[in-house]
Amino acid sequence: MTKALDGIRIIDFTHVQAGPACTQLLAWYGADVIKVERPGSGDITRNQLRDIPGVDALYFTQLNSNKRSLTLDTKKQEGKEILEKLIKTSDVMVENFGPGALDRMGFTWARIQELNPKMILASVKGFSEGNAFEDLKVYENVAQCAGGAASTTGFWDGPPTVSGAALGDSNTGMHLAIGILTALRMRDQTGRGQKVSCAMQDAVLNLCRVKLRDQLRLDRTGILEEYPQYPIREDGKYGKFTDAVPRGGNAGGGGQPGWVLKCKGWETDPNAYIYFTIQGQNWANTAKAIGKPEWVEDPAYATAAARQDKIFDIFGYIESWLADKTKFEAVDILRKYDIPCAPVMSMKDIENDPSLRASGSIVEVEHKARGKYLTVGSPIKFSELTVEITGSPLLGEHSDEVLASLGYDAQQVARLHQEKVV
Ligand SMILES: CC(C)(COP(=O)(O)OP(=O)(O)OC[C@H]1O[C@@H](n2cnc3c(N)ncnc32)[C@H](O)[C@@H]1OP(=O)(O)O)[C@@H](O)C(=O)NCCC(=O)NCCS
Repeated sequence: MTKALDGIRIIDFTHVQAGPACTQLLAWYGADVIKVERPGSGDITRNQLRDIPGVDALYFTQLNSNKRSLTLDTKKQEGKEILEKLIKTSDVMVENFGPGALDRMGFTWARIQELNPKMILASVKGFSEGNAFEDLKVYENVAQCAGGAASTTGFWDGPPTVSGAALGDSNTGMHLAIGILTALRMRDQTGRGQKVSCAMQDAVLNLCRVKLRDQLRLDRTGILEEYPQYPIREDGKYGKFTDAVPRGGNAGGGGQPGWVLKCKGWETDPNAYIYFTIQGQNWANTAKAIGKPEWVEDPAYATAAARQDKIFDIFGYIESWLADKTKFEAVDILRKYDIPCAPVMSMKDIENDPSLRASGSIVEVEHKARGKYLTVGSPIKFSELTVEITGSPLLGEHSDEVLASLGYDAQQVARLHQEKVV
């Protein structure tokens, strides 16, 4: 079957999460992604957090499906020559090494262009070129702190908090994938490649733009009326405004108040909660759903402004209504009233969710050493493209076939193995 990115060859010179997430996405959609890894050890995630001794860790398998693996020591002269051959015959090279590592290896942007003017070089770094922190190595949580996510996440009486979602890593990889597709389209028009880069700080910030919106509002008015800190209370129970956007707990980020509410069983199940949104335009339905039809017309409750100073009392009341309902039962009732809500899904719920399996958002794939394992499938669905997720490659599984495609005969390949170039 034709895949969208058939014919695009990508040198996947990435490791850990940000880069691999980018190239995995492109591999799903049909690109030939050749993961270049250090002989003997490979991507560090093959070894990190292993659940089966001697078998590639799930960290690796979840981020490297649909790829081929070539081991190559690019610090050895012959390794460099092989990489040069690959550059001449590929469309894109993706890398996320620490600042300056690719240059130190001898593959500056100028050199890459010399080898292949059509090449697209795509990089992830922690910070953008010229940034005051550009020399720093960066991991996920560092980026969340630098990009504005951590200072705006958590509760007013707790420290800056990082999210469980990979806002720094996979999110940057997705941004970079968009950059690569854009550069490929531009290359169709100009015939030239280009350098594409995405900084983790910037990718996090791009997801925090509503928090910058809030900073500008706070600068002007001194309050943010949708945050728990408003209305301003003498006792500061829900925190106080300073000159920076505060942490709003579980408050809705837009104009619709919402909160995470306890359901039946919360005392023992840490995920027995739903997210409940009080949508202004749906107030009549909301009041009826929770058994308070008299609140529809009551001037003390009828408008968003009237509800504002008692919003936590309203949420408290809704929790008492939820006390005898599981999170799934509650959502089944609330969906009939058009209330924007969902159960808080634990990872256990997600692992077993039939809808996610049916849609291919969670898939089971085969791995040569591990057997079957679950992974997250394509979150993007197409009407004309079937995405098939395959297992991740073993270290160096495709070295010989890639070398053969570059013109090396069996004897030369054997020597390269012997000399630990591959
Ligand atoms: C993630 C990160 C912190 C890891 O740091 P690290 O493990 O110290 O690795 P680095 O990328 O800095 O260095 C890799 C080294 O391995 C070398 N290397 C990588 N692949 C190689 C290969 N196939 N053969 C030989 N050497 C190789 C590089 O040349 C570099 O060597 P040098 O530092 O002597 O020049 C760092 O790579 C980084 O900041 N990356 C950019 C931001 C990023 O993507 N972070 C997200 C990670 S999810």
